[in-house]
Amino acid sequence: MNLRKKTLIIANWKMHLNTHQASLLVHRLDERIQVHRDIEVVLAPSMLSLQPLSQQINHRKFKLAAQNGYATDEGAYTGEVSFAMLSGLVTYAIVGHSARRIYFNETLEVVRDKVQAAVRNDIMPVICIGETKQERDAGEGRQVLHDQLTTALMNITSRELERVVLAYEPVWAISTFDGIIAKPDDIEKSIAYIRMQLRELYGEKAAENMYILYGGSVNDHDVRSYLEVPGVDGALVGAASLNYHQFSAMIDAAYRMRTEA
Ligand code: PGA
Repeated sequence: MNLRKKTLIIANWKMHLNTHQASLLVHRLDERIQVHRDIEVVLAPSMLSLQPLSQQINHRKFKLAAQNGYATDEGAYTGEVSFAMLSGLVTYAIVGHSARRIYFNETLEVVRDKVQAAVRNDIMPVICIGETKQERDAGEGRQVLHDQLTTALMNITSRELERVVLAYEPVWAISTFDGIIAKPDDIEKSIAYIRMQLRELYGEKAAENMYILYGGSVNDHDVRSYLEVPGVDGALVGAASLNYHQFSAMIDAAYRMRTEA
């Protein structure tokens, strides 16, 4: 945990909760979570809930993230919502989540264009990268990370990089894929590798300043062990973020870690 940076914790609710349920969950979280200057709590509800939640939340306590967006700003793309439309409504947008890459065939180039569109529209992309179990078993993990990272950042300048977040999410560790609990050691090596790549692309300082989150079956019991991994600046949480006891306990754990440090 780098005390010079905030701890960033993002709740990815995926395709769960209708607007009423989402509002109720926010209400419960609001009762349990305090404003902490050094902890940024971000909620990524469904597209449908973003607008009502933006009116409900205390913006000092919670920020909003979209789970996706379309790279073209406007046009005849039935069913899509562009980053341009999300601009002003959300602070962040998750881009290139493994569910999007795997179920919706998002290629490296699609992710690259979305990253660029988010930045162009003043939304901070949270770029998810991570290898599948098959790729890991075949010894291709590094190559996959390299390709996902370099393509996603292809058109991003060092200046723009300050408004980009990365999330290392090994697909094998995500609860709805293989759900294998990642060892902090494994994470540390991959995060170090990612930072090394960033250093090569953007130099020492920019690489150091970049936020890198860990995601994959993080819960209130193990969040601490992941936040303790050198180079990890926060967590992207799926399943456990739907439970207000667990999610608020994670924020508490992060807060305690910071005050103890
Ligand atoms: P999980 O999901 O915490 O349920 O494993 C993480 C993610 O998919 O972002």
